[in-house]
Amino acid sequence: MIDDIGAARAAALTQVAAAARLDELVRLDPELLGKRSTLATLKASLGALASADEKKAAGQALNEAQRAVAEALATRRGELAAAEREARVAGERLDLTECAVAPRRGHLHPVTQAWQRLEDVFIGLGFTVAEGPEVETDWHNFEALNMPSTHPARSDFDTLFVDHAGAPAGTTLLRTHTSPVQIRTMLASGPPLYLIAPGRVFRRDTPDATHMPVFHQIEGLVVDRGINLGHLAGTIEAFTQAFFGPGFTSRLRPSYFPFTEPSGEFDIRTPAGSWLELGGCGMVHPNVLRAGGIDPEEWSGFAFGFGIDRMASERHGINDLREMYTGDIRFAEQF
Ligand code: PHE
Repeated sequence: MIDDIGAARAAALTQVAAAARLDELVRLDPELLGKRSTLATLKASLGALASADEKKAAGQALNEAQRAVAEALATRRGELAAAEREARVAGERLDLTECAVAPRRGHLHPVTQAWQRLEDVFIGLGFTVAEGPEVETDWHNFEALNMPSTHPARSDFDTLFVDHAGAPAGTTLLRTHTSPVQIRTMLASGPPLYLIAPGRVFRRDTPDATHMPVFHQIEGLVVDRGINLGHLAGTIEAFTQAFFGPGFTSRLRPSYFPFTEPSGEFDIRTPAGSWLELGGCGMVHPNVLRAGGIDPEEWSGFAFGFGIDRMASERHGINDLREMYTGDIRFAEQF
């Protein structure tokens, strides 16, 4: 019996020492110490021994063997846990030299670049930069711009209305153009005014190669004594050459906007001879001046508005506007 116990103990200790992973130990624990283990089976057969002395000696040897195996399991568990932690830490180690070499310089988005260049050119022409809110009232966006609620021109603007606590439904919206800034600056400052207002605008459009539901415009407004269409044409021409380069020229084409009279579209001509439509413009309608608190008998003005995204895509030869808003770094890096 004592020999059997010695053999079982030695076999168990060898198995523990051979375990290479924590999960093996977890499996070994019941196998070596549980009810079906060799040591437990030997314990169950103690009763069959002849003398009390033999029973006592065998019982002690068994207890001693079980204690030794339990201790060996615990020690081995500690060793393996430490080794596994070490391996994990080594695997997760950060190589800080990767961060230390060659920092890469980013740059502004092509639309932001165009926005800033436009501001530079107009500031150079003596304009100041104004801003207005992106969430507007119906009055600033339409009504004050000579588009009462029944005006058919409203259907040119696919408007996104928003819920606004306390305001009646349909009176608060995401601005469809930067033109409401005309009204806000007239009311805030009064003439003379020479300003541009770049900003984000919104229309309920399905995105395609030439439309985005969120895009950018730049508005221009001049109000002073004796302003006429010649000033508008001259400003557009000066802007065209400053922004695009000396080989470019511009032209005005008759058009219609409720807030200007007369109204025009302006196109630019590339050195290669092709025409490109850029935006709308015209002489500020007397009703708009009145809405802005300005006497149209004393003051006159012109306004223009065009898309910044389109300028950026023309400049870089980007043929799908959606590309500019995917956030794909491989696209943005090219400009
Ligand atoms: N607000 C017009 C648009 O979004 C453009 C415009 C601005 C036209 C100023 C005339 C004068 O289409």
